[in-house]
Amino acid sequence: MQGRLIVFEGVEGCGKTTQIARSQTWLLESGLLAQLKTQSQISHLVVTREPGGTELCQAIRQLLLHPTGQEAMQNRTELLLYAADRSQHVAGFLKPQLAKGALVLCDRFTDSTIAYQGYGRRLDRNLIDQLNQIATDGLTSDLTLWLDVAVEVGLMRAKQRGTGDRIEQATLDFHQRVQQGFTELAQAHPQRIVRIDASRSEEQVFKDIQAAIQHHLKRWQAA
Ligand SMILES: Nc1ncnc2c1ncn2[C@@H]1O[C@H](COP(=O)(O)OP(=O)(O)OP(=O)(O)O)[C@@H](O)[C@H]1O
Ligand SMILES: [Mg+2]
Repeated sequence: MQGRLIVFEGVEGCGKTTQIARSQTWLLESGLLAQLKTQSQISHLVVTREPGGTELCQAIRQLLLHPTGQEAMQNRTELLLYAADRSQHVAGFLKPQLAKGALVLCDRFTDSTIAYQGYGRRLDRNLIDQLNQIATDGLTSDLTLWLDVAVEVGLMRAKQRGTGDRIEQATLDFHQRVQQGFTELAQAHPQRIVRIDASRSEEQVFKDIQAAIQHHLKRWQAA
């Protein structure tokens, strides 16, 4: 049995969580998942996120996004906590699910660490690549949908949603560097990363996501 991993990436407020929920409903209600079950090795659908994909990961997410007290988190501590979250999530959830044939929709994965801790925090890229390798144990996404929106637009949307976490509160400069990170990653991995123009309406963004997922499902079925 072999599942597939689809990752949604992008800056704060680009629409990842919104579009994952829509994709989940669509896959279940359109009959597409039922069709996949008969025509491929896909057996079920799961939705998850990083950080916070398991119970232990949820505790790490809380530390990362809503720490208590005044102590500033060191950049390397942040990087290591994201790596710990990923290691737990990959070994304890993603790999077992994929082995059972899951189609996984995952909110953020390794590219977020490169963009936020590499470009944003300016931590050494070799260190990040090594940690991603250790945490994933070689697991890579089959398809990454990069929801590309201007940082100002994304932050405004996130602000209106009203859950200001520690990362959202970082400087505009920081978020611009993160955006540059996603841009360069998409250029470097055109096979894996599909850019979606996320500046448009939810409905229009969703249409492109449906098309990208359908295209890749067909490719995987033919493989
Ligand atoms: N295309 C869109 N146009 C306008 N508003 C949108 C669009 N997509 C999502 N929103 C709204 O913007 C807010 C942020 O969306 P969402 O939470 O899905 O983003 P996100 O990428 O998951 O953010 P975060 O990185 O903070 O988790 C929500 O209130 C959502 O309803
Ligand atoms: Mg979200």
